[in-house]
Formats: sequence, C-alpha cells, structure tokens
Amino acid sequence: MVEKIKAIDAYTVFDSRGFPTIECLMYLDGGHQGRAMVPSGASTGTFEALELRDRDPSKFGGKSVYQAIRNIKEVIQPVLLRNEVKSQHELDDLLIELDGTENKSRLGANAILAVSMAYASSIASYRGLSLFESLPAKRDNYILPLPEIQIFGGGAHSAGRIDIQDFMIICNGAGTLMECYEMTFKVYQEAGKILKRENRLAGLADEGGYWPVFDSNEAVFQILTEAILQAGLTPGREVSISLDIAASEFYDKNQYHLKLDNRVLSSHEFSALLGSWLEDYAICSIEDPFSEHDISSWRQFTSAWSDKIQIIGDDLFVTHRKRLENGIRDRLANSILIKLNQIGTVSETLACIEDAINAGWRPVISARSGETEDTFISHLAVATGAGQLKVGSFARSERMAKWNELLRIERKLSDQAKFANDYIQFPWQ
Ligand code: PGA
Ligand code: ZN
Repeated sequence: MVEKIKAIDAYTVFDSRGFPTIECLMYLDGGHQGRAMVPSGASTGTFEALELRDRDPSKFGGKSVYQAIRNIKEVIQPVLLRNEVKSQHELDDLLIELDGTENKSRLGANAILAVSMAYASSIASYRGLSLFESLPAKRDNYILPLPEIQIFGGGAHSAGRIDIQDFMIICNGAGTLMECYEMTFKVYQEAGKILKRENRLAGLADEGGYWPVFDSNEAVFQILTEAILQAGLTPGREVSISLDIAASEFYDKNQYHLKLDNRVLSSHEFSALLGSWLEDYAICSIEDPFSEHDISSWRQFTSAWSDKIQIIGDDLFVTHRKRLENGIRDRLANSILIKLNQIGTVSETLACIEDAINAGWRPVISARSGETEDTFISHLAVATGAGQLKVGSFARSERMAKWNELLRIERKLSDQAKFANDYIQFPWQ
C-alpha cells in the first residue's frame, strides 16, 4: 500500500540558461517527500508536447512559467488529493486525462512532468530505495550506460555558429565508466588546447562543449580526430565520433541550408554529403540526419547505413510511442532519443523505452540543452537498462551532476554494476 499524496508545492527555479523552470515538491501522508525539476529544449521538435510559458514580454522576456505552476497547485493538486493513486501508472493516467489534449497543451507538459517526476521521487523515498531501484521499469540487468559526450557544440546552442549541433564522442573502447570518463577528459582537454593554439576558441556552447570558430562543418571532424589522436587514443577502435545533426534547424522548403559552408543542398545531395563524412571519419552514431518532415530521406539513409552505424531519431519520434511504432514499421532509424519532457510523463517515457528495446532498438536517454541539477535521467538510464546516456559535455555542473550521479549509482550497485559496453550489442559493433 502506497502512502497518499498530502500536498504538492511548485515554484519557479532557473535552468542552466538562466531561464525560469518549475521545481515541484510532493509530500506524502507519512512524511516522505520527492522533488523534481524540469528541463527545457532549444532545438525542439514540431511534434513535442507543449511547454507552457506565459509569453508575457514583461515577465522574464515571456519565459515565466507562472500559469503552469498555478495549474499544478490549483488544477492538479485538488484532483490528486481527492483520488487515491496507487502507482506511477495511475498517477500519470490521471494527469493525462485531466489535461485531455493530444500534446498536453491545456496544463502544460512542464507542469505535468514536474508532478510525474516528483511522484516517482517521493515513492523512492517512501520505499527507502534509490530512484533507479524504485522506478517501475522492466529490465534484465542494471546497466551503467555508455555515455555520449559533447566536445563541440553548434546549431541552436551556439547561435548557429556551426550548422551541425553536436560533435560528440562515444568511448566504445572503455571497459569501465571511469575509463570512459578518463578518455573523455583527455579528448576534451586536447580539443581545448588545439583551439587555443589555433586561436579558434569563442567560449562554451549551451551544453558545455567548446564553441569554436570554424570555416566549414567538415573542419570540425578534422580537429576532433586530431584531439582523439593527441589524447593517445585510436579513432574508431577506442573513441568514436557521434553526431547530432539536428537537421530540422536548417531545413527549409525541402532543402538543407548549410550557412557555414555557404551551400544549399537537396535531400539527396545532403544525404550524399553525410555518407561521405561517414566514409571519411570514425563516426559510429548519427542523430536527426534529416528533418522530421523529410521521411523518405530517413528511410533511404537507414536502408543504406543501419547495419554500420546507429541512426537516432530525436525530433522525428519525440519520445512518442505511436511515432516510434511507425518508425519501426517503416524502418526509418534503428535507435530513439528519449527525453521525458518531449512526452510529459514518466510512464509514457518508460513505455516508449520498453517498446524500443522490444523491437531490438537501442534507446539513448537524453538531457535537454536547458538543464538543471536534477539527476533523474541518470537513474532512468540505469533503471531501464537503456544502455546509453547523452547529457552534453564534460564540463558545467548541470552536466557533471548527471555523470557524477552514475558514479554514485555504480558504488551503490557494487559488483552488480555492469557497464553497457560488455552487455549491449551496439549497431556499430
Ligand atoms: P535540445 O537539444 O534540448 O535543445 O532539443 C538536445 C538535442 O537536440 O538532442
Ligand atoms: Zn537531438
């Protein structure tokens, strides 16, 4: 028997960009409590659940979330106090029903998710468990995810300085989480040294990766490969390159507009360009290579490359079961990015991860570009055995909070802790 919800508090806190977001505190009858903060994206997909902002220019430039907070206290709270929910599923079903819209636009996905996550956290506290042990996920093993870590940031996260959004690494040669962090540390440091030497460093992008001055998108691959080599590591064998193209951001009127390269490409030409990068560099994973509206390109690209690399749909699937189901049926990709706030409840997120795993796809649990110190996603990755976690770079505390939380979970699991590299077959292996 689970304790009843006694009260819910919600208020404004600030994310890593300094934008207002929601923190929710859930109090249970017996004195246990849970807390959650919601993140926020910048390169959001068209089909994501709605993040409710007040849009009043006089309040935080339109970004305040006072209405969403009122929705938690005045609409959601009374219903949850009246109805005795007995599980995460029941709670989330109630929230979905109460909202009543397809994209959670009445109450706001940020309001709904804050309550859903805070409930999961309060139940873990009531049960005396860590969140990863308490989340109602199906899994065979607790698996410490293989991190996907950003070295250079571009796109919407660095004012469009480079067209491509994330240049990341996956330490596929690491035998342990700590080995992976050490490889990442070295590559990140070496990349910084190269940029300083060449006078190309413009600062840090939103997710902590370097914001460099480059003359072409391809130049970034050369510098990243050089950084891996200077770190004493072998590209491809020990450390591979992973990209989030976030192509929707530069797709317009059926064409891909690469500003940095001064080129406008048809889908076919853009696909050929991606293919040439895959041939020339040690790339093992590519996310959102095309716009979510350019479905035939996804299908053709996946049929050509899916046995060699991981192809992740982010804006394409928006953590939505129905969109994933279509993607599996039509073979549009072979992996899905998972972001809690794209769909808006913990239960729907867990179901989407489970569907992906059942179809033989690898889900990648992901942070947003606007993050907080909340470490829910580290627990979600371990709880579901998803196998991969994407958090941004190896710098800035809102990112390091997640990487550090994995170390705490690893200690708690002790010899039960299994590192993804040994237990999960990735498409590139
Ligand atoms: P976002 O970026 O949070 O700005 O959407 C992350 C991503 O695209 O994966
Ligand atoms: Zn993405």
